Amino acid sequence: MFDLSGKVALTTGGSRGLGRAIVNGLAISGAQVAFCYKSDSSSAEAVVNEVESKTGHRPLAIQADVVANEARQRLIGQINKEFGPIDILVNNAGTREDGIALRMTEAWDDVLELDLTAPFRLSQLVLRSMSRRLWGRIINIGSIASRIGLAGQANYNAAKAGLEGLSRSLSQEYGKKGITVNTINPGFIETDLTEDASAELRQALLSRVAIPKELSPEAVANAVVFLASGEAWAITGQALNVDCGAVKS
Ligand SMILES: NC(=O)c1ccc[n+]([C@@H]2O[C@H](COP(=O)([O-])OP(=O)(O)OC[C@H]3O[C@@H](n4cnc5c(N)ncnc54)[C@H](OP(=O)(O)O)[C@@H]3O)[C@@H](O)[C@H]2O)c1
Repeated sequence: MFDLSGKVALTTGGSRGLGRAIVNGLAISGAQVAFCYKSDSSSAEAVVNEVESKTGHRPLAIQADVVANEARQRLIGQINKEFGPIDILVNNAGTREDGIALRMTEAWDDVLELDLTAPFRLSQLVLRSMSRRLWGRIINIGSIASRIGLAGQANYNAAKAGLEGLSRSLSQEYGKKGITVNTINPGFIETDLTEDASAELRQALLSRVAIPKELSPEAVANAVVFLASGEAWAITGQALNVDCGAVKS
């Protein structure tokens, strides 16, 4: 549908769930794809083989905990060396650690570090080279949870809302350099991340959909591919809900 050939794309957390679909979508569209994961090397290897069988090209899978500065530097350095400079950064790796606000201690920092700080630090690592080449795409994976404001998710909702603010600010700083920065807010999708979601949380997210179909990781990947494409050059600083119409604004 969209041609990403000649572009180098990094997706964080590409070994499972939404990231796996995003890696596949970018590769099928012609991008040279790299992804990182935290520890599950067998899932990463499965994605490598899946992409290779679909496209004939072997993606680069790198173990890197993006919360750690050293790992982020190593990740970007290895991709630069093996594939060249990154054109498309998809900040997808994320976690949730729900709990009531008054008892939220380490879970606040843990979630903010991975879901908000790491996307900012990784953006810093690619922006200089994107600026020099006058082309770039940064796509942050948020969540409609931040739009709704779910109880028990102060950390997650704050981090995901923060991604929208980060995208808007970077979009203003880097628009003149041909770089777009957007957020995609998925609705509820069955993955390892949502396996233990409470009935209340599922109800809060699923009861409001306009399209009564199960949302898939591929639906999110389609939006990523579009925003990564040249055709989406005029869209920046936006938040796009991919949620079957759950959120009305
Ligand atoms: N699922 C949903 O309903 C939903 C809805 C809205 C938004 N989202 C967002 O979509 C994104 C992906 O969610 P998902 O459901 O696909 O999650 P998931 O199934 O739990 O997959 C998480 C991925 O991130 C990687 N990861 C976790 N911590 C990492 C770290 N510190 N450094 C590097 N990689 C790390 C994991 O690697 P390992 O395999 O090695 O652990 C895995 O590849 C998240 O940002 C999430 O907040 C999800």
